[in-house]
Amino acid sequence: MKVIGIYSSPRAGGNSDLLLKEMLRGAAETGALIEEIFLRELHFDPCVECGSCDETGECVVQDDMQLIYSRLESADRILIASPVFFYSVTAQLKAMIDRCQALWCKKAYLHQIPAPEVSGRKGFFLSVGGTKGKNLFDCSVTTVRVFLECIGITFAGYLGYRQIDHKGAILEHPTALAEAFEAGKRLCRE
Ligand SMILES: Cc1cc2nc3c(=O)[nH]c(=O)nc-3n(C[C@H](O)[C@H](O)[C@H](O)COP(=O)(O)O)c2cc1C
Repeated sequence: MKVIGIYSSPRAGGNSDLLLKEMLRGAAETGALIEEIFLRELHFDPCVECGSCDETGECVVQDDMQLIYSRLESADRILIASPVFFYSVTAQLKAMIDRCQALWCKKAYLHQIPAPEVSGRKGFFLSVGGTKGKNLFDCSVTTVRVFLECIGITFAGYLGYRQIDHKGAILEHPTALAEAFEAGKRLCRE
């Protein structure tokens, strides 16, 4: 089983990083092969909506997104972590998602990506936000769920933690890290 963790926060070693590390540790315990992608270390532009991928399923823009496409296509599990930024995901993650229009075309128009019922591929989302807003994760969860479904992956769920603000605050949460660890194990055993 190949598991990819996508770190979307610009803050290295921050709260969503710590959660994802723990979830990947849980996944690794089941024997899964782990790969990490740190979006903050990559250089890529947002989608320019040129329409080329409509016909080819490939993105013509040659930047670091080209390192990501094949990994997304071959992963059995995709774990995405993003803090809440203005009630949504980070710009880094949204740019990656938009650039995956190419994969959506590959699936929807070219039928070159199998349906999740066939592939059994699954994805999971981790998030943190500084405040306690009732709808804090709604927008991000919808964005990530739709993204995963559009590229042929079942959305298996999410964990979101409120009132987690300063760097490392998640370490003081009574259950978060253990829950992330267990979620990683569970997702790879399903
Ligand atoms: C640009 C920016 C926007 C943010 N927007 C929100 C927000 O809308 N709601 C919220 O509860 N917290 C917001 N926060 C706080 C972060 O979600 C919080 O600090 C989180 O713990 C950061 O996670 P990280 O350490 O993984 O980067 C924002 C922080 C930044 C820097």
